[in-house]
Amino acid sequence: SAAEKGGYDYFMLKEIAEQPKAVADTLLGRIDPSGSLTLDEVRISPSELREVDKVVIVACGTAFHAGLIAKYAIEHWTRIPCEVELASEFRYRDPILDGRSLVIAISQSGETMDTLMALRHAREQGSKVLAICNTNGSTIPRESDAVLYTHAGPEVAVASTKAFLTQLVACYLVALYLGQVRGTKWGDEIQAVIKDLSRISEEVERVLETMEPVRALARTLASKNTVLFLGRHVGYPVALEGALKLKELAYMHAEGFAAGELKHGPIALIEEDLPVVVVVPSPRGRSVLHDKIVSNIQEIRARGARTIVIAEEGDEAVVPYADHLIRIPVTPTLLQPLVATVPLQVFACELATARGNEVDQPRNLAKSVTVE
Ligand code: AGP
Repeated sequence: SAAEKGGYDYFMLKEIAEQPKAVADTLLGRIDPSGSLTLDEVRISPSELREVDKVVIVACGTAFHAGLIAKYAIEHWTRIPCEVELASEFRYRDPILDGRSLVIAISQSGETMDTLMALRHAREQGSKVLAICNTNGSTIPRESDAVLYTHAGPEVAVASTKAFLTQLVACYLVALYLGQVRGTKWGDEIQAVIKDLSRISEEVERVLETMEPVRALARTLASKNTVLFLGRHVGYPVALEGALKLKELAYMHAEGFAAGELKHGPIALIEEDLPVVVVVPSPRGRSVLHDKIVSNIQEIRARGARTIVIAEEGDEAVVPYADHLIRIPVTPTLLQPLVATVPLQVFACELATARGNEVDQPRNLAKSVTVE
């Protein structure tokens, strides 16, 4: 009913709007006033966590994209090697696991069969499993050694939005906690990021307030057949997520690429007026990547692409090459996906509406996939 949708036309719109609260709720009570992390629900002891020599993340779909982003954070802040694998592939390739491997299973529903089978396989090999889950008491957390709940609240729309942002928050918390417990050389940076995280829900709110031009742009693209997405570093999984949202909702051919791969093939796809969304890393910090992606935008535009550029406020280098410019707030590099994903959700939702599709119940899809 309309009341259930909180006055929005679709659950997806309501859930997109709820993201600042979902993010704040997922952080609530987990950062203490001194700026350190307390993850009480993670019932794997600090001494066990200090023994971990490998992290393996298993998940499907959007949750898998959260896992891809988590890898950057975990490896950077903890120096523990981290692999991310589609849950549906995992147990069929005889993965190397033992008692020192920490397996993280990410799932909104907690009922995804592929993810469940992957975690069962991991536990059979003696690995500890930590679930990151949005549904209390669901099967995946029940069968795991430990759980960190995301507090997104119920997600009804088939296309995952607020659950994704909270999965990212949970992954950052786990990465920072592991870093804190193991005491890496990034101690100061970890403290600074914990502070940044506690402000991030306001930044998500600011992004939501500026989405009207994104909706207007989406409507002009309703008759297109293909949209490409490019990103680098943590922007690469964001590009994959933008493409997945567009497939699910708009039934358009959408593909995400690592921008560095362009010249290894995908650039052949570029043709006149092809919309290409580019997620630009911050010009601060890893500025080499920023400069490289600016040249990529130049290259594809010279070949006729219509460039839709998502870039940090104050990034002036992209301006001459952006046919459409979507601004996002300045954030630490690793946290950028929390703000960069939001315009892509809005974009896909509006395109679905413009194409007359059923937003909350896309064809052929189920909210949780309980069969293999
Ligand atoms: C996301 O928009 C999708 N509907 C889908 O990829 C989903 O993320 C995937 O099926 C995993 O679901 P889960 O998080 O409930 O395990």
